[in-house]
Amino acid sequence: MSISRASIEQITLAADLVGLIGEYTNLKKKGANWESCCPFHEEKSPSFKVNPAKGIYKCFGCGKGGDAISFVMDIESMGYVEALRFLAKKYNITLEESATDLKEEQNKQSEKEALQIVMNFAQEFFKNNLTETEEGKSIGLSYFKERGLRSDIIESFGLGYALNEWDGLMKEAEKRKHNPDLLEKAGLILKNEETHKTYDRFRGRVTFPILNVSGKVIAFGARMLGNDKNQPKYINSPESLLYDKSSALYGLYQARQAIRVADMCYLTEGYMDVIAMHQAGVGNTVASSGTSLTEGQIKLVGRFTQNLTLLYDGDKAGIKASLRGIDLIVAAGLNVRAVVLPDGHDPDSYAKAFGASALDEFLKSHTQDFISFKAGLAAEEAAADPFKKAESIDSILETISLVSDVIKRSVFITEASRLFKMSEEAMTESLNTRIYEKLRKPKPRTEQFNSNVQATEIPETTLTREFEEQKTIIYELEKEIVRILILHGHKTIEDDYLIANYVFEQLAEIQFKTDSLKKLVEEYSERLDFGEEMKPEHFFHHSDELLKRLVIDMCSPFQEKIMKYTERSFEEYADLDEQNVSKSLYSNILQLKKQNLLKDIEALKLKLDSEENIDDELLVLAEIHEKKKIEIELSKELGSVLNQF
Ligand code: UTP
Ligand code: MN
Repeated sequence: MSISRASIEQITLAADLVGLIGEYTNLKKKGANWESCCPFHEEKSPSFKVNPAKGIYKCFGCGKGGDAISFVMDIESMGYVEALRFLAKKYNITLEESATDLKEEQNKQSEKEALQIVMNFAQEFFKNNLTETEEGKSIGLSYFKERGLRSDIIESFGLGYALNEWDGLMKEAEKRKHNPDLLEKAGLILKNEETHKTYDRFRGRVTFPILNVSGKVIAFGARMLGNDKNQPKYINSPESLLYDKSSALYGLYQARQAIRVADMCYLTEGYMDVIAMHQAGVGNTVASSGTSLTEGQIKLVGRFTQNLTLLYDGDKAGIKASLRGIDLIVAAGLNVRAVVLPDGHDPDSYAKAFGASALDEFLKSHTQDFISFKAGLAAEEAAADPFKKAESIDSILETISLVSDVIKRSVFITEASRLFKMSEEAMTESLNTRIYEKLRKPKPRTEQFNSNVQATEIPETTLTREFEEQKTIIYELEKEIVRILILHGHKTIEDDYLIANYVFEQLAEIQFKTDSLKKLVEEYSERLDFGEEMKPEHFFHHSDELLKRLVIDMCSPFQEKIMKYTERSFEEYADLDEQNVSKSLYSNILQLKKQNLLKDIEALKLKLDSEENIDDELLVLAEIHEKKKIEIELSKELGSVLNQF
């Protein structure tokens, strides 16, 4: 699927960012920019800024930023192309699509529509079976009645019955001239590989239609009746053009209004849980039926509320699912709570045993935030095994480290330290180590350090670790450049030219190797784009604890280490005026380029040693030669710069 570059540009030009974003948040004009509280995370003071001239936005709290297209993708949980279509429609732009793509898209669209028609047919058929056929009434309907389902609930969830025949649905479909290929694509019928004979997928089962957010039937779950051990309890539709398991939620269509009103959503495991909750009057309930919870499903709920409560069985599997769900939801930036029903009850059995209002009452009084929930589990386990406590602390820190909002993180730490009776400082240190590790290594660590030993010891500060591990010239140079940027970037050299702009110009072709420093530079440049006046103080009070420490340490007046590389004494250095700052910067940047080159050359030489292929060897040699030439040029330039001091 490709949309022409021209169309995309047209959309970007047409999109009125302030108007667009203003539909979601309350933007206020401030200078050349607009600002508001961030629509992507909870906050009390506005750190979300929109720059209409540049057509970009950025939240300095959670880091989300981009242009009109990325805004729509994020806020509406849409894909790129979907967002383009959304904007095109909004601003009356006709999208140019390449002809073959267009045809493909049209085919897909019409196949989707055709699948929808057979799905609707199947739904009508199953529903009709339940109430209009003898078999349906005596087997299906009486099963639902036995389980205590009210007629209005059976109706609103569209429950049905699949006849106990090999071709019940197929025969009816034939009568109505539905295409058998489509029935197969929709997963309603199956083909025997050997005999090529087709037969109904759902037979002798009650059916639960799965709807998308707009109420269209996209799949079915079908429960067996009786208890034949050789059959799966539920058979579900396979995925299709209509049905993507990981982004469908059972009951969302019926629950969406109640979720908005309650500003909260219960997440359960099964079809029957959702239905029982609705019947008990707790309509804000959905289920991730048939799959374990996915990020896509969480995003989907996130369109309606930021508050999710996990309501899983109290057995081992249920707890495990809850713990996994907690981490996923926290990482997605939503608020998560959990509640467990007593004695192996599920919502259905609990409501039956104690009544609907008792269920509601229980849920309200036993819902815990995820920290208390984990602490509660830990207390139970610790009674049996004291080593488990350290393991639990480890696990809670892991969860908290997934929270991106610093304020929330510190609230959670306070609560966790209270519940686990651990010093807040020790927990914060350990948490920061984790976060830092995550920043350094994009992939999650598979091997955790032995928590039994270390949880009670305060690890070295992350800062000292950064020093220990990266005592390289490159690291020092990067740090020195950032230091000058932070301390002097807001000053100007000739003709009101900002030193910061000079830095960014010079850095254009350099990729910083240290993540935290790279982050600081990026933030500086983004803030500058939004017209902020960049005072060093901002970084001394940075909201990210790790970055704050790094900056304070870096900018403290004892930077003698770096003097080695600039060959200046500290006194001379501290007195630098603006002109000299830029010279010093220039020499540092040249140094950095040189060091990066030397490192590249070193790597190429290593490659030479390990490789046997002659062709390749010549190429590598040529590359080394080229880099050496540049390196010599750089050294010359550097020498003349240093002489000018
Ligand atoms: P449960 O076994 O808890 O089913 O599985 P349930 O919905 O509560 O049904 P009852 O109360 O026993 O009648 C939870 C969910 O897991 C999926 C279904 O989505 C089910 O609702 N599941 C379970 C399957 O997809 N296949 C199975 O064989 C079993
Ligand atoms: Mn169940």
